Amino acid sequence: MTPNATRRQLSALAELAIEDLYEADPQLADLLLEEHRYQSRTLNLLAASSPADPSTAIAGGVSFPVVTAEGYPGRRFHSGAENVDALENLAVERAKRVFSARHANVQPHSGSSANLAVAFSVLNPGDTILGLHLDSGGHLTHGAPASITGKYFRTAHYGLDTSGRIDLEQVRAQALQHRPRLIICGASAYPRRIDFAAFREIADESGALLLADISHIAGLVIAGEHPSPIDIADFTTTSTYKQLRGPRGGLILLGERGSDAGFGPVPGDAGQTWSRKIDKSVFPGTQGTPSFSNIAAKCIAFEKANGPAFSSWVRKVVHDANLLAKHFSASGLGLLTSGTDTHLLVVDLRDNLGISGYVAEKALERCGCLTNRNRVPDDHRSAYVASGLRIGTNHLAARKLSDNDVLNCADTIVRILMNIRATSDTSYELDRRITDEAVAVISAVCARNPLQTL
Ligand SMILES: Cc1ncc(COP(=O)(O)O)c(C=O)c1O
Repeated sequence: MTPNATRRQLSALAELAIEDLYEADPQLADLLLEEHRYQSRTLNLLAASSPADPSTAIAGGVSFPVVTAEGYPGRRFHSGAENVDALENLAVERAKRVFSARHANVQPHSGSSANLAVAFSVLNPGDTILGLHLDSGGHLTHGAPASITGKYFRTAHYGLDTSGRIDLEQVRAQALQHRPRLIICGASAYPRRIDFAAFREIADESGALLLADISHIAGLVIAGEHPSPIDIADFTTTSTYKQLRGPRGGLILLGERGSDAGFGPVPGDAGQTWSRKIDKSVFPGTQGTPSFSNIAAKCIAFEKANGPAFSSWVRKVVHDANLLAKHFSASGLGLLTSGTDTHLLVVDLRDNLGISGYVAEKALERCGCLTNRNRVPDDHRSAYVASGLRIGTNHLAARKLSDNDVLNCADTIVRILMNIRATSDTSYELDRRITDEAVAVISAVCARNPLQTL
């Protein structure tokens, strides 16, 4: 079929879908549009997401959602899998190319599912995971007590040094004391580079396997703005929506250590190789039918992530994060590690302001600016209230603001935070004039600088 004919037929399908949606469920149709409008007019500074292009939505929405085909390409448990086999092979090839990996599994439904699949392929009951403490920026699936990883396995944790950076001496001491089977490096709220090579040395010294969870920094890794763990760690996992501009979903990658060619057979597990073991742990180990709409949307996201527009967006992400960090510091806000190397910063609200993360997040949201509260080291507040505020620039950079506009937004945020009068950890007052001015600045910036596709 010619490209034009494909385009015409897909447009007809999309139009039919919209007509059907509107006829069947105008209430839902209104909600979809309202959310789109909301996203257009708000300044999204959430560190854990990035804007997905419309092509991702259409790739995920057309044709593939109804296909059921358990298994892997060429080895399905249902008939009619010819196109989904081609789709999954294409997504795997693209994932391998964009990350320079040797093996990819594109089926995990999320970053958490990817981590669970690795954990359950590597660990036996009673084995130990060593991961970054939740309060120091780690993730639940890195062995937190509330997560299944913390309930089914023994866990040990490492934290930060006095400058707020990962304390590698502590990692080493914990590894030698607890002899974990799996060390996890990677974080949800850590603003600095992760020294994968140092983690490798510690893993080798203590006889552990190493999982690098790059959910937050996958885009930085692709664009060369952060060292890649692919050939250093045994396994690398990521979410596909946080910094890949893709759909909700997960991905597992193996480099030269974890691939069949490099790492070879799994010790003590005759006939197994890491790639096969990981694949089996995804299906049938921890998941059933893959979501092919998800895989289709990942497929276009990987393709776009391989292009120059993606890399220049990532450079802007880092640039904007630095601008915000410098302005916040100069204005007297306390930042963990006093700055950032990545897309995110964590404001420690205990310094100078004394308000809770909850109150800060709600006041900013009222003014059209989205951030999220986060616990900080030695936080006396619960995770629901928290004393930190996590701010990221993935969405901001997609608006391609001038430095002046970024600083204008930074200044507005500082003004809001400095004028909050907390009446408790979950209630506050903010002068009407401050709110109105902030709403005016933020909505004008958003209107002048719409989100741009890659
Ligand atoms: C470092 C890290 N790993 C894994 C996850 C889990 O990802 P998902 O929400 O896709 O399950 C997150 C999400 O917050 C994360 O920050």
